[in-house]
Amino acid sequence: MAKSVLLCCVLAIACAVAVASDPGPLQDFCVADFNSQVLVNGIACLDPKLVTADNFFLSGLEKPGNVSNPQGSALTLATIGQVPGLNTLGISLVRIDYAPWGIVSPHTHPRASEILVVIEGTLLVGFVTSNPDNKLITKVLQKGDVFVFPEGLIHFQQNVGYGNAFSYSGLSSQNPGVVLVPDTVFGSTPNIATDVLAKAFQVDKAVVDEIEAKF
Ligand SMILES: *[C@@H]1O[C@H](CO)[C@@H](O)[C@H](O)[C@H]1NC(C)=O
Repeated sequence: MAKSVLLCCVLAIACAVAVASDPGPLQDFCVADFNSQVLVNGIACLDPKLVTADNFFLSGLEKPGNVSNPQGSALTLATIGQVPGLNTLGISLVRIDYAPWGIVSPHTHPRASEILVVIEGTLLVGFVTSNPDNKLITKVLQKGDVFVFPEGLIHFQQNVGYGNAFSYSGLSSQNPGVVLVPDTVFGSTPNIATDVLAKAFQVDKAVVDEIEAKF
């Protein structure tokens, strides 16, 4: 009995470590000092005596992003790059604008789960579970609806309304990262060998060349 309780504790701790996002802070804050030469997991702390409110501040997220691009979407970030006070806090924010029928390509965030709220418009959203199921979990969201994308899983959004749409997302990392599936698979530098992609997608090499030419 005692042994199985101990085993459960060990497993629980191991799982917590394995699925946790950014490590927890060991002080009130650690405003990023982008000039520091010290390399740490994250960014070194600015001297707390030099910290001001502006280190925790960003304006402009009321403004729509420019959606004139092939995907018809735009991301406005409030991550460690824009808000140095986020350093070590394990959270960030993004505004996403969508033209009518605009998409955010299938992508993953290697370091964060995401919680999205629709502010305007109608969005089709979804994520796919990992192997072997590869099950699509999908829903159409209206203004005010919230949806969660679990850490690491491939997900997408599309504006399925006739007007513009926008949403905000909270992410469980100061630096969630983004891996866009089309860009990484077909648009890498240099390209992944055509033979590899042709076999992976079970298409002719010409099809791979055609897709790669667009990136
Ligand atoms: C939006 O992006 C397009 C394409 O890059 C560009 O031509 C256009 O000037 C931009 N519009 C604004 C308002 O910045």
